[in-house]
Amino acid sequence: MNTPVLQVEGLTKTFGGLTAVDNVHFTLPGGGLHAVIGPNGAGKTTFFNLISGFLRANSGSVIFNGENIIGRKPHEISRLGIARTLQIKSVFTGLSVYDNVWIAVMGQSRFLNPFKSAGSYTDVAANVEAILKDMGLSDFAKELAGNLSYGDVALLEISIALATQPKLLLLDEPISGMSPSETKHTVEIIRGLSTRLDVILIEHDMEVVFGAADVITVMNQGAIICQGSPEAVSNDPSVQEAYLGTPGEEDEEELSA
Ligand SMILES: Nc1ncnc2c1ncn2[C@@H]1O[C@H](COP(=O)(O)OP(=O)(O)O)[C@@H](O)[C@H]1O
Ligand SMILES: [Mg+2]
Repeated sequence: MNTPVLQVEGLTKTFGGLTAVDNVHFTLPGGGLHAVIGPNGAGKTTFFNLISGFLRANSGSVIFNGENIIGRKPHEISRLGIARTLQIKSVFTGLSVYDNVWIAVMGQSRFLNPFKSAGSYTDVAANVEAILKDMGLSDFAKELAGNLSYGDVALLEISIALATQPKLLLLDEPISGMSPSETKHTVEIIRGLSTRLDVILIEHDMEVVFGAADVITVMNQGAIICQGSPEAVSNDPSVQEAYLGTPGEEDEEELSA
């Protein structure tokens, strides 16, 4: 039997009286693109924050490659091979695209080897160039990050996350706010990435992930209500009810949230 890449058991996080993540059980078998969808406030970002150590869980466990990472600090989890992007875009707008990624790669290699010799800086450059090529940003290497299109900023953020050479990449709504053509391009790149490492993509818009994801997990009010292929998920009555909302009942959904 294969060990799942990520195994989450009974994960719970409360904020005062609000249960943002409610006894979540989640298994990521590995391979392919996994999407987590759900309406605003469903607990998706909190779920990522718990996995990446940005928030402390009230209870539960997160096993990554056989190791319980609950209670570990974000930098320790990053070192174990989990990288993430944030929902709010954050790059150094006054630096070039190349330098943004260079700083991230350099930080990582310094960390691994604080006595790095000057000669091995060529490895860093090669690594930066490989990442930019992968993300389709090579042509923009010298451009200031602040001059990039919205879609390319998202790709730059993913590039920065890739600097740690993760085994698992958590992407929090990278395509939110993009034009249809930017969305198409970015989704293609994310799909390409998912052939080489495990990717969990949080996305608000079910239609966007429908054609791209291999497996979809649906969250609502802190809980996982459904997981399966895009077809299975779209046909699941509980998803249609809780996530899509029954036509004409939007107000009711608001009230019960
Ligand atoms: N730091 C926080 N303090 C208090 N409440 C929070 C905090 N972070 C998230 N929440 C609440 O937890 C719930 C889930 O939020 P979130 O995980 O951001 O949902 P999603 O990413 O699915 O939109 C929401 O009701 C949100 O208001
Ligand atoms: Mg969110």
